[in-house]
Amino acid sequence: MRLSCSAIATVFTALVFAAIPQLNAQATQYAEKPPLLVGAAWYPEQWPESQWDHDLSLMEAAHIDVVRVGEFAWSTMEPSEGHYDFAWLDRAIALAAKHHICVVLGTPTAAPPAWLTTKYPETLRVDENGVRDEHGNRQQFSFTDPLYRRFARDIAEQMAIHFGHNPDVVGWQLDNEYGNPSFDPTAKAQFHAWLQKKYGTIASLNRHWATAYWSQTYDNFDEIPVREDGENPALLLEWKRFVSDTWKSYSENQIAAIRPHADPRQFITTNTMGWFEGFNEYTVHSVLDIAAWDDYIDSDRYDYLANGAAHDLTRGYKMKNFWVMETEPAFVNWRPTNTPLQKGEVRDMAWQAIGHGAETVEYWQWRSAPNGQEEYHGVLVGADGTPVPVYYEVQQVGKEFAEAGPEIAGTSPHSEVALANDFDSRWAIGFQRHSAGFDPVNEMLAFYKPLRQQSQAVDMISIDTPLDGYKLVELPALNVISQATADRLMAYVRQGGHLLLGPRTGMKDEYDALEPQRQPGPLVDFLGGRVDQFYALDYAVPVSGELGDGTANIWAEQLSVQAPDAKVLLTYGKSNGWLDDRPAVITRSVGKGRITYVGAWLDAATMGRLTQQLLQQAGVQPILPGVPEGVEVCQRSNAEKSVLILINHNTKDEHVGLPEPMRELIGEPGIGSQETVSAVDLPAYGVAVLETQK
Ligand code: GAL
Repeated sequence: MRLSCSAIATVFTALVFAAIPQLNAQATQYAEKPPLLVGAAWYPEQWPESQWDHDLSLMEAAHIDVVRVGEFAWSTMEPSEGHYDFAWLDRAIALAAKHHICVVLGTPTAAPPAWLTTKYPETLRVDENGVRDEHGNRQQFSFTDPLYRRFARDIAEQMAIHFGHNPDVVGWQLDNEYGNPSFDPTAKAQFHAWLQKKYGTIASLNRHWATAYWSQTYDNFDEIPVREDGENPALLLEWKRFVSDTWKSYSENQIAAIRPHADPRQFITTNTMGWFEGFNEYTVHSVLDIAAWDDYIDSDRYDYLANGAAHDLTRGYKMKNFWVMETEPAFVNWRPTNTPLQKGEVRDMAWQAIGHGAETVEYWQWRSAPNGQEEYHGVLVGADGTPVPVYYEVQQVGKEFAEAGPEIAGTSPHSEVALANDFDSRWAIGFQRHSAGFDPVNEMLAFYKPLRQQSQAVDMISIDTPLDGYKLVELPALNVISQATADRLMAYVRQGGHLLLGPRTGMKDEYDALEPQRQPGPLVDFLGGRVDQFYALDYAVPVSGELGDGTANIWAEQLSVQAPDAKVLLTYGKSNGWLDDRPAVITRSVGKGRITYVGAWLDAATMGRLTQQLLQQAGVQPILPGVPEGVEVCQRSNAEKSVLILINHNTKDEHVGLPEPMRELIGEPGIGSQETVSAVDLPAYGVAVLETQK
């Protein structure tokens, strides 16, 4: 089933502006048919117009529903200062619509034109060493420069005036992959003003930052240096927060230009980068309508659990379904060796995205530019305009999305367990890792993976998210903790919640200063135990206890028990003498719930057993029990319906028995098998989409 762009726009209207009762007629007429979308990044400005129709015909044949255009096309849209040319884009959008393809418009501000940066060099970014960027690459602008913001606002506003009511434009992507801050004089002055606003007096800043250390005491805010490493960790943390606020106001600058001229059904987002830690995504997403991310494999092999975690992370930015704005058509061009995904894994990844709450999967890119920095990148169509092999796999994805879309429409993942991602804590650990192997994201994943495997649904949340809906909440390394957060956590446990704290939790206050108590700081009395000392490890330390035998690696904290009712679950064996026979994991039941502290980075099997015990205590069941390892279970549901997506990430066939008959929404041998089955056989990278009874 193919839907018009207006129909697709309706989905976004429902998604983004569910609370707004009045929608325009065009946006509501297809309300009952929301699809899943396949898309591609299309750069018509790079190709002769005579080739557009051929490209779009191939897209339509691949069931591509949406293209993202305009991103990076500033020099084509505003060839000289104040002279805008959108006629070519009008024609590209109209032609796409003829092929039933709608459009996300990118504001082109990640790639300023040469006339702009030549005439106004102050708009160029300055690096930490004071060197100004040049034209030729991208993202070479200063994110604070007022003049740059004026130009960005003007192009965004002109685009919105022109396209804000275009029925084929469904949404906006601001800029591209916000990344590098600038260290120009304006940025520094704004940082100083930001600090002054926050601290009021320099004496207050000196106190919180403990600047008597190394004679750092400041007399004025403008004496404060601006660098991203080697400085006082309090300064580094505040700089990250300033950068986060600045990307937020950078977004607001363009949103203020677009929103007054755009239909409410047009969403505004930007495309983010998974675990990128340059700024706080929750801060930036507070002003965006939906979240979107660019899903690229950054290692040699596709680690499906890690990739699923990044989807859950992105879903957590707005706590609702999201877009995959870019993903790779089998390979990229920027890794040391750009090995491709295996045949079948592109489809596997597409369905994983949907399973974790994506509404759209867009490939980067449709067709290689004739020249430029990315000539080797994966595409769907070669420079000659004919399909490359992966095109046909994407075509299959497109058919399947169209087939299963109506049943999946309006559903999203739900979970009884949550894992908190906290930027302050990730940054604070990153500033002073202490143990080279203590990568905060890897540590998060060490908690996430067994949780996901056993519960089959995890919400990745900000620590500020209300916790009452969750039976189990895990904080892998909440290094920075405020008293207010500690109070919320204690209330959560008292009311029946199960809470797991990981190593390094509760060590710092909001200023990155050491808590006056040992870890876990304001939770010491509540836990009835504390960290006596922490140790970086370059060898495995044995642990044993009621969770069996295992090892601690990378990090081990020597715990002590202070409350008589706190119980030790694991004890260290012989190692460095300090840790010998001391507690590694302690737990205590408080009120109607339970708090557990694990002071070591445990091996995967032991972490798995700890997770199992916690899930049992919290009363969390898997969605589909007895599934072979490597087969991922995803569930999307709403009040009326529920769909299971099973993905065999293994390289061998797997059999999955179902607890009740379910209707297959896609299936082999024919797409769209409507058969009801009681088991599914999944080949390597195979996918089953099943409608379950509600
Ligand atoms: C993304 C970027 C795209 C393209 C892609 C290549 O990070 O947004 O423009 O460069 O990488 O993998």
